[in-house]
Amino acid sequence: MTNRRTVITGGSSGLGLALAHTLAADGDELVLIARNPAKLEAAAVEIRAAVKGARVSHYSVDVSDAQALQETFEDIIEQIGGIDLLINSAGVLREARFEDTTEATFRETFDINLFGVINCCRAALPSLKENSGTIVNIASMASHAGVYGYTAYCASKHALKGFTESLYFELKPQGVRVQLICPPEFDSPMVDALDEGRSPENMAQTQMVPKEPMDVIVRDTMKAIRSGQYHTIAGFNARLAGFAVQHFPGLTRKLGEKIVKKASRGAS
Ligand SMILES: NC(=O)c1ccc[n+]([C@@H]2O[C@H](COP(=O)([O-])OP(=O)(O)OC[C@H]3O[C@@H](n4cnc5c(N)ncnc54)[C@H](OP(=O)(O)O)[C@@H]3O)[C@@H](O)[C@H]2O)c1
Repeated sequence: MTNRRTVITGGSSGLGLALAHTLAADGDELVLIARNPAKLEAAAVEIRAAVKGARVSHYSVDVSDAQALQETFEDIIEQIGGIDLLINSAGVLREARFEDTTEATFRETFDINLFGVINCCRAALPSLKENSGTIVNIASMASHAGVYGYTAYCASKHALKGFTESLYFELKPQGVRVQLICPPEFDSPMVDALDEGRSPENMAQTQMVPKEPMDVIVRDTMKAIRSGQYHTIAGFNARLAGFAVQHFPGLTRKLGEKIVKKASRGAS
């Protein structure tokens, strides 16, 4: 049993919720953060039903609201005595061509996917330093490559990768571990919503790496948390794709271009 005190943003759904189940089984005391209070309560009930003796509390707060988040973390630290592990999984995804993506969408995406993580790291840091804790940022394969329809999302996830890389060097000497997880597309409510209206070009390009089941992403994320490895691309196919993008960028761009062109032709 780990007995860690773990805060998970986005803990009411998808990857955050799936990790919460596994960490509860490991013996962690959990605090889930998201906006929708009914979904948070449902998640806590689900975890308590699945894991006997699970300790789960939750806070309804928007991670992009720095002030509210600061107050939330103060309360969390008072309630559970400190934070050992912070998992930043809260995120949003809107797919549209750049010409159809409003400035408001760009700002919302950055406010949540980048500033939401920055706000949580800032608010949790004093306690993480005290407890030689760990920050796990859930980025994406979209942190490594561009994708049709993802100008806002990819930009926010590339920025999150840059933030995380820099934070690693600053916090390592202070005893705080920083980790970056980059999953490919996986089964989750986020992708269910995306599937309702995504462009054929986006579908074709993202499926160059086939969608992974949730348990593969949870397995590789937990492996990283247990081993302390800084950077993890989750899933074997995504690791291969990551290798190709890093070492053969011209080739993978050409392949992407071909796939997008074919999907556009098919659509028209
Ligand atoms: N699904 C994929 O294929 C995929 C692939 C690569 C990376 N990722 C990344 O993995 C992470 C989890 O994705 P997922 O698929 O599990 O998504 P999901 O099922 O849609 O869950 C997103 C979670 O984030 C919370 N959230 C969203 N905006 C928030 C805000 N402003 N403040 C607080 N909480 C907020 C949501 O709750 P509320 O709406 O109630 O706030 C929900 O709990 C995201 O960062 C995503 O970008 C996903």
